[in-house]
Amino acid sequence: MGAGTLGPGTVTTESGGYESGRAETARVGLIGCGKISQAYLTANYPNVAYVACADIDQARAKATAEKYGLQAMPVSDLLSDRDIDVVCNLTVPSAHAEISSAALEKGKHVYLEKPLGLDREEGATLLNVAEESGLAIGCAPDTFLGAGLQTCRRLIDEGRIGVPTAAMANMVSHGPEHWHPDPAFFYQRGGGPLFDMGPYYLTALVTLLGPIARVAGASRGVGVDRRVRSGPRADQILPVDTPTHVAGVLEFADGTLATIVTSFDVWGSNLPRLEIHGTEGSLSLPDPNTFGGPVRLFSAGATQWQDVPTDGFDLQRRGIGLSNLADSLAGTGYNRASGRLAYHILDAMVGLIESGEQGKYVDLTSAVERPPALVRKAA
Ligand SMILES: NC(=O)c1ccc[n+]([C@@H]2O[C@H](COP(=O)([O-])OP(=O)(O)OC[C@H]3O[C@@H](n4cnc5c(N)ncnc54)[C@H](O)[C@@H]3O)[C@@H](O)[C@H]2O)c1
Repeated sequence: MGAGTLGPGTVTTESGGYESGRAETARVGLIGCGKISQAYLTANYPNVAYVACADIDQARAKATAEKYGLQAMPVSDLLSDRDIDVVCNLTVPSAHAEISSAALEKGKHVYLEKPLGLDREEGATLLNVAEESGLAIGCAPDTFLGAGLQTCRRLIDEGRIGVPTAAMANMVSHGPEHWHPDPAFFYQRGGGPLFDMGPYYLTALVTLLGPIARVAGASRGVGVDRRVRSGPRADQILPVDTPTHVAGVLEFADGTLATIVTSFDVWGSNLPRLEIHGTEGSLSLPDPNTFGGPVRLFSAGATQWQDVPTDGFDLQRRGIGLSNLADSLAGTGYNRASGRLAYHILDAMVGLIESGEQGKYVDLTSAVERPPALVRKAA
């Protein structure tokens, strides 16, 4: 079978994060005008209108406001502004819960960057407050809504690898001190390779395979200082308060057994990022920190990998999760990158660290259903 025959046939377009084409526009206030804010502010989803921004560093908020035509405000004013429906929280992990809680208390829906919180308590509090207040909460990553991972979803749902049996996830690098202008937070609680990059890999696996039942793990690296290698803070010494190498086992409720390694301690590697194996084939998945391919399939009895063209989806950029949340507020779509999904991922990450500390498996008490696949429309 040629690679082309594995494609989606006549299904070539998709509504992306804008399901109905008639959803109301959500007015969004962005808090945290740092490195990743640009990706959100340039994403241009038709149902997401950024109207204001704030940062603990007011000069940064002012510069962002001028660049993108927004109103710069103090954080407290943005949280109280009646014209804002949704707060998009792009602060550092240690501020995720505080800013998100304050936004919920002011009656705002919230979309935040990963992780949902530093621990289960922070995450659970956000979910409870949102639920009690009838407010929506969504959380990155949203790359599982990219064309690459949605194509993998279709292949798995079509039975192209049979029954999933095993998965392997490897995120290994030598850390963000090589490229980020202010990398200190990556080495504090809520950072490290597991909490910073693990959500991409774990969210991909959970949205493809379903919930994780229990985890086992081991980790190292706390207390071993790092040195900034580039940028304005070059040669600054960073204290390390989070593991820099985490190895784990994930047992999924459907019986799939996965291994995961996340590391900021590796200089070079040939490990594949993400693979899922089944009774009828193997799937090589794209980097789950991206929205595209490549996707490759190795069918039972074949002699080589086949490239699978990614399904045609529009609007594949960071912020698609926020656009989905806006759809759900308008009653025209699903909040797929939900707080509940992010809580399950947080539960798994905390469990991996706890397992190593306690020397035993950790059962996850949270559960989540796979969010619906993106709707594809016939051309
Ligand atoms: N940089 C990336 O490539 C990237 C990619 C995906 C996700 N993320 C996530 O996005 C978040 C932000 O990352 P970043 O790289 O943009 O960080 P950054 O340090 O560049 O920006 C964070 C901003 O938040 C502001 N801030 C911190 N505490 C605050 C508070 N209490 N109130 C108001 N503002 C506050 C800081 O002043 C800063 O401007 C993190 O959760 C990170 O994991 C980053």
